[in-house]
Amino acid sequence: MLNEKQIQRFYEDGFLVVEDFVSEQSCKHIMDQAAGLIHDFQPADRPTIFTSDEQVRHSDQYFLSSGEKIHFFLEEEALDKAGNFTVDKMQSINKIGHGLHLLDPVYRDFVAGCNFPAIARDLNVADPYLLQSMHIFKQPKIGGEVSLHQDSSFLWTEPLSCVGFWIALEDATLENGCLQALKGGHHMALKKRFHRNDKGGTSFEVLDDSPWPDQPLDVLEVKAGTLIILHGALPHYSAANRSDKSRQAFTIHVVDDACEYAKDNWLKRN
Ligand code: FE2
Repeated sequence: MLNEKQIQRFYEDGFLVVEDFVSEQSCKHIMDQAAGLIHDFQPADRPTIFTSDEQVRHSDQYFLSSGEKIHFFLEEEALDKAGNFTVDKMQSINKIGHGLHLLDPVYRDFVAGCNFPAIARDLNVADPYLLQSMHIFKQPKIGGEVSLHQDSSFLWTEPLSCVGFWIALEDATLENGCLQALKGGHHMALKKRFHRNDKGGTSFEVLDDSPWPDQPLDVLEVKAGTLIILHGALPHYSAANRSDKSRQAFTIHVVDDACEYAKDNWLKRN
């Protein structure tokens, strides 16, 4: 699936941009499916907000049980202090996760067509397992910032093996909150680890408290249909979206089943 030059680039930079990976028609098909799911979604009395900064606070049962379900998480600014919606339901969703690839036939077909396991094998993942999928919306005006993080912090294996696949469903620009990455940063140790606690809930364990290097982030502005492959230890970030355009993306994370999957990862596996 990948040529030698692409593989080398991935190992050097910690990420790889593959343009024209899927058609605009496929992107639209997935976005239409998401719109249908949101239309049918009935927000609970106490909707769950997703923010990466406050993952611990928002790690309630709805989040922790979403690994093999289709659950809906709101943008933080979609609710006011009194808990009332500030926007229409269709513009309120931060993301849908994390079992879309398992449960929804449209997403399942889309994922099958992408052949992620074959790409993962090119990147030395011996036994690729499609662990979690997300449809991310980055809604107009209220799309939340995602702070600098490493995906392996959330999906721990021994040894580390997580690879992220991120597909732009719409053009991603600096204005609407495209990905930004710390090129070569995957050579650094993991900063922290997110896991379940013995007595319930979750917490971050600090593994390395040294500051992030003082290096500008690469701004990854890409067209709809572009795939960005992310090494699990690559620090990446996206800014809040204050523009009037959404920045939808589909992501899937793969781990190597030849590695040991941590039992206290937030996402439980059967
Ligand atoms: Fe990420």
